[in-house]
Amino acid sequence: MSVLNIKQLRSETLGTEHVNHLNNAGASLVPNPVHQKILEHLELERTVGGYEAAENCFGEIQNSYRAIGRLIGSQPHNIAITENATGSFLQALSSINFSANDAILTSSNDYASNQIMYLSLVERLGVRLFRVEDDPDGSIDLHSLENLLRRLNPKLVAISHIPTSSGMVQPVKDIGALCRRYESLYLVDACQSVGQMPIDVKEIQCDFLSSTGRKFLRGPRGIGFLFVSDRAVDLGLKPLFPDLRGADWIMENLYQPAPDASRFENWEFPFSLVLGLGTAANYAQKLGIEEIRQRAWGLAAKTRSLLSELKGVRLLDQGTQRSAIVTIDLEGKDVPVICDSLQKLGINTSVCTRNSAVIDFDNRKIDSALRISPHYFNTETEIEDLVSALVSLLNHS
Ligand SMILES: Cc1ncc(COP(=O)(O)O)c(C=O)c1O
Repeated sequence: MSVLNIKQLRSETLGTEHVNHLNNAGASLVPNPVHQKILEHLELERTVGGYEAAENCFGEIQNSYRAIGRLIGSQPHNIAITENATGSFLQALSSINFSANDAILTSSNDYASNQIMYLSLVERLGVRLFRVEDDPDGSIDLHSLENLLRRLNPKLVAISHIPTSSGMVQPVKDIGALCRRYESLYLVDACQSVGQMPIDVKEIQCDFLSSTGRKFLRGPRGIGFLFVSDRAVDLGLKPLFPDLRGADWIMENLYQPAPDASRFENWEFPFSLVLGLGTAANYAQKLGIEEIRQRAWGLAAKTRSLLSELKGVRLLDQGTQRSAIVTIDLEGKDVPVICDSLQKLGINTSVCTRNSAVIDFDNRKIDSALRISPHYFNTETEIEDLVSALVSLLNHS
């Protein structure tokens, strides 16, 4: 039994009255307080003016930074608010002075848009890209990582904490300890992990951690954040796209970056979403992130257990530690068609296409996968309903 009051939490989530939402790795259902906070600020903006509304809410906006910081064990001055996880990742990457032959180490499970950014650096600057070997269980092989760190002296190690196309959780703390030992910069993509499991940037020892609002954190769409360590600021790292918030012009050819993570921010912000994100961070913290993890991972384990008994379903998840993302192959069936049919029955899942995980999927000879991602507010009955619907669709399609 969960310590969370699921009935109460569902009553605070309008969407649960309408859909069986098992697509929290896509975008979760926002809780009512998040929705209300956004509307409240939009209302204030239309009443007193956008700039004036932000001034009126200055203290509350600062509290959003505090709430996001608390969620990941960081101080508020280490948090930059961005438009999404990709924007955060890009800002971090753009602050590193890569030159020809510098090495980047990553995994074969890193998110597609991150991989595209590395390839762009390879093409434009002659950076060398290495993908660390996986363990037999699919997560990163720490011995292989250490060998590469020793041999290549990479400028950056970048790892997706929970890949988009697998329930696996990468050992980001062990990776962080190695990065510190070999003095490599360390960037963690925590887009899928923030909001579903405890995260402490001090334990991970990362220089940067990028994330988004809309997934397991249950914040709004169109907003994300980047953790920037004091070390990264002290090293003088500054992004390619500083804006007025994060920099002062001091001479024609020089600028002075802000002394904190705000150097990674844009000036123009959707403050309603900033407040919504802060509300979501507080909401999750009040429930307890460890309680959230246990409930969400428990529902995912139940999903895997029920699906493992179905003919024609192959579980794809790897890793010793498995999260609230469940991925399956439906042997011989058209996954997008099944996903569409489920949606028509009021059950939201999603499709991981080859494009979103080309290296991993090609290695494992997978075309596309159905992704089922429960969260703590889902019920056991909703999981059973999904499995029954799948059985019926597999028998009749
Ligand atoms: C692991 C991972 N990283 C990054 C992203 C990109 O996030 P965003 O769309 O917020 O930029 C995603 C999106 O699904 C993801 O799963």
